[in-house]
Order: sequence, then structure tokens, then C-alpha cells
Amino acid sequence: MAFIVFEGLDGSGKSTLLKKLKTYVEKKGIKAIHTCEPGGSVFGDKLRDILLDTNKDSIPVPRAELLLYQASRAQLVETKIKPALDNNQWVLCDRYSASSLAFQSGARGIKEDLVKWLNSYATQNLEPDLYILLDISTEESEKRRNDRGQKLDRMEQEKSDFHKNVRNTYLSIANSNNTWIILDASLGEKQLWENLLKQLQLKNIFKEK
Ligand code: TYD
Repeated sequence: MAFIVFEGLDGSGKSTLLKKLKTYVEKKGIKAIHTCEPGGSVFGDKLRDILLDTNKDSIPVPRAELLLYQASRAQLVETKIKPALDNNQWVLCDRYSASSLAFQSGARGIKEDLVKWLNSYATQNLEPDLYILLDISTEESEKRRNDRGQKLDRMEQEKSDFHKNVRNTYLSIANSNNTWIILDASLGEKQLWENLLKQLQLKNIFKEK
């Protein structure tokens, strides 16, 4: 089994690549689940609606925002991720605790130690085998968000400096940790997929199968 997390700026293509990987491993006979944060559980989906709401009267203060992301994560870990891993399934997550480090610490400015402590509390210290950072520039991320033609959510509406800090935090975590790989997400879908498979082989992710 493997526990793999995709991280990156909005519009970096996490969910497309994640779905492709899920189909690929399922063809090998591996059972896998796909989760997404915030949300991924009935309770978490309610928190997601609150967190991404653009209504000016319901903007959470940074502390409240951090706690709600963590509440969603705690629910997801206990009700979905742990049971799947206990059943020898692969778990492929669209965002996990590193998102709180990048967004709430790196960009919002909450102390890193505090976010790390809350991450470990919410996840019961459950760490993925691998984090995949889909790296794109903030300009490309903004372009892709706008091209979608959908209304931007509360986080997407943040200024470009906020997103630059998110990206820099991701890069600094990924560059100093060997459980991370960084993929250039500005490449076309085909090249990105090939690079992902190469990296997964190098990390021996398919070895047990
Ligand atoms: P979502 O629409 O899921 O964005 P994406 O498709 O890019 O993942 O919205 C989730 C937003 O919440 C995204 O802007 C990142 C942010 N976020 C945090 O700020 N902290 C967190 O801990 C998590 C999980 C997400």
C-alpha cells in the first residue's frame, strides 16, 4: 500500500494527475481511494463550504481558518484515510497537512511550530509515504484559475503576494525533505505523467506490488 499526497498552487493540475494515477494503479489490481481537502467527508464538506465562502460577512480570522482546515483533516484521517490504509488500499490525497504549512503558516503568517503541532494532532501523526509538489509560477496559476471561467473561491481571491508565499513555502519544504518530489507542472499533461511515473519508480513506490 502507499499513501501519496499531491500539493501545489490552485490550478497546478493536482486532481487531473491524481485521477490518472488512481486509474493506473487500479489497472494493476491495486485498490485505491481518492480524497480531497478541505472536505472528503460529510462533515468536512460542510467545513469546506464555510472555508471557501466569499461572503464578506463570514470571513474567518486566521486562527479560525487554521482550526477549520484541521477539523476537516482530523475527520478525514479517522473516517477515511486510516480505514483505507488498514485495508491495504492506496490512499491518494489532493492536499494534506503541508497545505496548512504553505497557506496558514507561509502565507498567513501563523507560527510554523504551532501549525506543525496542530497537523500532528489532526493526523494522529500519520505521515504520507510521499508528497508530490506540482510546481507552477503564480502567474501561470492565476492564468489557469481565470481560464476556468468559474467564480474564484475565498482563497483564490487572495493577492498575488499571498500565492507567492505559498509557492515559496512549498519549495522550501520540498527541497529540504527526501519524502518530497517536485514536478514541473507547467509541462504538458503527457510529459508530466511520464515524469511522475519515472519518479515513482525511483522512489520504489511500485516495488511491493
Ligand atoms: P480547492 O478548490 O480544493 O483548491 P484546489 O483545487 O487548488 O485544491 O480549495 C482548497 C483551498 O483551500 C486552496 O486554495 C488551498 C486552501 N487550503 C488551505 O489554505 N489550507 C489547508 O490546510 C488546505 C487543505 C487547503
